[in-house]
Amino acid sequence: MKIFIDTAELTEIKEAYSWGIVDGVTTNPSLIKKAVDARDEIHLEEYIEEILRTVDGPVSLEVIGLRAEEMIEEGVFLYERFNPVNDNVVVKIPINTRTKDGQSKKYDGLKAIKKLSSAGIPVNTTLIMKPEQALLAAKAGAAYVSPFAGRIDDYIRSNVGLVRGEDYDKGAHHDPSLMDEAIVLAKRPFEDGLFGETLEEIYSDERLKDLRSSARDEGIRSGAEAVRSIKNIFDNYDFDTEVLAASMRNSRQVREVAEAGAEVATLPFTVIEEMLGHYKTEKGILAFSEDVVPEYKGIFEG
Ligand code: G3P
Repeated sequence: MKIFIDTAELTEIKEAYSWGIVDGVTTNPSLIKKAVDARDEIHLEEYIEEILRTVDGPVSLEVIGLRAEEMIEEGVFLYERFNPVNDNVVVKIPINTRTKDGQSKKYDGLKAIKKLSSAGIPVNTTLIMKPEQALLAAKAGAAYVSPFAGRIDDYIRSNVGLVRGEDYDKGAHHDPSLMDEAIVLAKRPFEDGLFGETLEEIYSDERLKDLRSSARDEGIRSGAEAVRSIKNIFDNYDFDTEVLAASMRNSRQVREVAEAGAEVATLPFTVIEEMLGHYKTEKGILAFSEDVVPEYKGIFEG
């Protein structure tokens, strides 16, 4: 699995790249904002050029327009302006840019993906929240689809009333089997006949249906499960589109999307660090250090 770093912070990119495990970078307007806010002054075009030169691998830069024509124009601009720097620009297009004011349509993203991909510009489709969106993006020719695993987990947890920041931390792993347990417990009254007595009554009980569906997003129980589903669909039809797991929040989630066969996971700096940590590793290295005898130390000193 390729690892991209999900940041526009150059110091993080340079540091993680020096570890030899970074294959690319993903940015978005929020990550660019963070990098800009962290500095008194910034020449953004030069800053982006430095990111591109730092990494020998794809760097996603996102458009900001919402209508197809704007996204196409901006995508061409980003590619023509920045790709000559190190031949590694990927243009990020949201799968659906429809907003409440109606200035763009649901399918504007698809039109932009099709147009840019047909012109040979690699597209990373962002804000993928369900496998069907990924299927459409792949059909339109996207080089990558980015399912937002962490935000899918947030959404599922919000449907059962859990609030991020109050009930769980941003980095807390979402375990769908806990949801299953909760449903089993909540179903107990049915043993007392509250949900009906025949299988037909139980199967069609609306309260049970609500219970089941609130712990899933249209059948998907977690972000990692969405990644697995997308990977299966792409394999079924031999799509070349790569699955790029995004909005990654913790080390265990990285394991899950790797098991699912995602070609890429884009990770915040802190998640890469978390992947290295284990209590027993830290204990172990302390013990090894304490056990170094002078004779052993001597062989290194010549
Ligand atoms: O990869 C997309 C990412 O930057 C969004 O992450 O944690 O804000 O959902 P997050």
